[in-house]
Amino acid sequence: MTETEASLDLYRHTVLDHSREPRNRVRPVPTDRAATGHNPLCGDKVQVYLHIVDEAIADIGFEATGCAICMASASMMTEAVKGEAETAAQLEIDNFLAAMRGENGAGLQGDLAALGGVRDYPSRVGCATLPWQTLEAALDATPQIVTTE
Ligand code: FES
Repeated sequence: MTETEASLDLYRHTVLDHSREPRNRVRPVPTDRAATGHNPLCGDKVQVYLHIVDEAIADIGFEATGCAICMASASMMTEAVKGEAETAAQLEIDNFLAAMRGENGAGLQGDLAALGGVRDYPSRVGCATLPWQTLEAALDATPQIVTTE
């Protein structure tokens, strides 16, 4: 097996691992912000839930009906941004979306590198970006202001 074949094999294994056993596939309690993403091409949906403390993602979870790439991307995304400041999470989103556009940004690190090859399959790019676009929408949500007045 060549080095390239070994890398592809490892990437395939990583994607399958995350899609079969997604991390953080739960709704955190409490949930402060949430958003739903929809892929009209296939009808699949992703819900992203956030628990925000001091402008950081204290907890994140998701629910989804989607293909293996979508599930793996959502799972890896939650691991990448859990505990991150909101601003850092937004940079992660920007970098991932740039990578899927072939602009590569700072490159994809860790398990996310396994999704780098998706950009070569334009019809699957939406599967990988759906969870990230949904996270971006959840971060952008105007927080509900609770008042005693
Ligand atoms: Fe629906 Fe991939 S086929 S998200």
